[in-house]
Amino acid sequence: MWDFFETVRHRHSIRKYRTDVPVEQEKLHAILEMACAAPSAGDLQSYHILVITDAQKRRQLSELADGQEFIADTPVVMLFCSEPQRAARKYGERGERLYATQDATIAAAYAQLAVVAAGLASTWVGFFDAAGIKKAFELAPGLEPVAALCIGYPAELPEETPRRPISEMVTQL
Ligand SMILES: Cc1cc2nc3c(=O)[nH]c(=O)nc-3n(C[C@H](O)[C@H](O)[C@H](O)COP(=O)(O)O)c2cc1C
Repeated sequence: MWDFFETVRHRHSIRKYRTDVPVEQEKLHAILEMACAAPSAGDLQSYHILVITDAQKRRQLSELADGQEFIADTPVVMLFCSEPQRAARKYGERGERLYATQDATIAAAYAQLAVVAAGLASTWVGFFDAAGIKKAFELAPGLEPVAALCIGYPAELPEETPRRPISEMVTQL
């Protein structure tokens, strides 16, 4: 088991996955449990997660994501959707506009780290046609696609992705 800091350091985007090794259901369940353990505004958990494994649906998603081909070849995609009206009931406009998106995003971030801890790899996909997804997957009314996580066993080494220096990104007051 890696400690938390190692887990974060080992997370890199992977866009090629093994097709010969299926992702175990128990691992997917454990990842979903971690996603749902994330904090949320008022503990309302204003999000919903779609787990997409069907090949035709992954192909559809790839087409709705500007043709990003690796999505069609990814064994599992988790689509994190916000539920703005749920947050709005308690927090009004701020809940609708901000908290529901934050809830869905935090859940996806927790899931992405759980993926690493489970020995899998992922890529966060945010560039997609949300309206097209709602229609193609007949999402329940009120769900807004926020982020997709492509998940599988890695079949490539990650690219180097440098970060801006902490000194440039952090201000101490
Ligand atoms: C909000 C967001 C949207 C992203 N959208 C995409 C995407 O549509 N396609 C893709 O291949 N990667 C996407 N990424 C992954 C980033 O390109 C990647 O995280 C970044 O280059 C840093 O690399 P790393 O994840 O290996 O550290 C997205 C990441 C975030 C956080």
